[in-house]
Amino acid sequence: MQLITHPTAEAAALDVAHRLCAAITAAPEMRLGLATGGTMQPVYGALAGLDPDMSGVTTFNLDEYVGVSRDHPGSYHRYMQDMLFHRLTRPPTAHLPQGDAPDPGAEAARYEALLARGVDLQLLGLGANGHIGFNEPGSTGDSRTRVVTLTPATRAANAAAFGGETPAQAISMGVASILSARAILLLATGVRKAEAVGRLLQDPIGPACPATYLRAHPEVTVVLDAAAAQEVP
Ligand code: GLP
Repeated sequence: MQLITHPTAEAAALDVAHRLCAAITAAPEMRLGLATGGTMQPVYGALAGLDPDMSGVTTFNLDEYVGVSRDHPGSYHRYMQDMLFHRLTRPPTAHLPQGDAPDPGAEAARYEALLARGVDLQLLGLGANGHIGFNEPGSTGDSRTRVVTLTPATRAANAAAFGGETPAQAISMGVASILSARAILLLATGVRKAEAVGRLLQDPIGPACPATYLRAHPEVTVVLDAAAAQEVP
C-alpha cells in the first residue's frame, strides 16, 4: 500500500484527478470504477477541467440508493451527471445500479455480472465508520454486489441530499467486487476521516472495519490530506 499525504484537501483532490487523467490517457479504453460523496466533488471538478477524452472508457459506480430514480436530486446517477459526465466534452459509457429497479436483488445480480471482468482502476472514498462503497461494518471479504441496509450514522451523513430522510437501503458493490479491481485509489480528506484512516491501516483485517480488507490487495494507493492523516502511525 502506498500512502501519500498532501498539506490540504484541495491538493489531495488535485493529485487524484491528475492520476485519473493519466490513467485514462494511458489506457483510453479502460474500465474505471467511480465513487461519490462530498470528498470526490473537487476531484471531479478538477478532472472535468482537464477534460480527458473518456469516450472509450466504461465506468462503473460503486453504489446507488434503493427506491431512488435516476433523476432524483439525491441519486448517485444525478450526482455523476452533475459533477462529471455533463461537464466532459467526451463522456464515458457509464453504468450505475438502477435504484428504482422493481426487483433490487435481481438488479444487484445484474450489476455484479457486468463487473465480472473486474475494473482496471477503482476510485474509493472512505466512510467515517470505515465503510467502502456502502459496505457497512459487518460486510465480509467475500461479499458481492447486493442490497445493503445503511447504518443510522451513514444515513445521517448523507441526509442533506434528501432533505433529511436518506433511503434505508442501497445497492452496493461488495468487498470482493471492489478487491477484484487491478488497482485501487482511495481518497480521504478532513479530520472526520482521521479515525477511519487509522483503523484502515492498523485494525485487524475483517468485517468490523471493511476498509481494512484493502490491506490484502497488492495495488492500493491511499491519498490523504494532513487532517485525515492525523492518526497514521
Ligand atoms: C458515502 C458513499 C461512499 C463514500 C463515503 C464517504 O456514503 N457511499 O462511496 O466514499 O460515503 O462520503 P463523503 O465523501 O461524503 O464523506
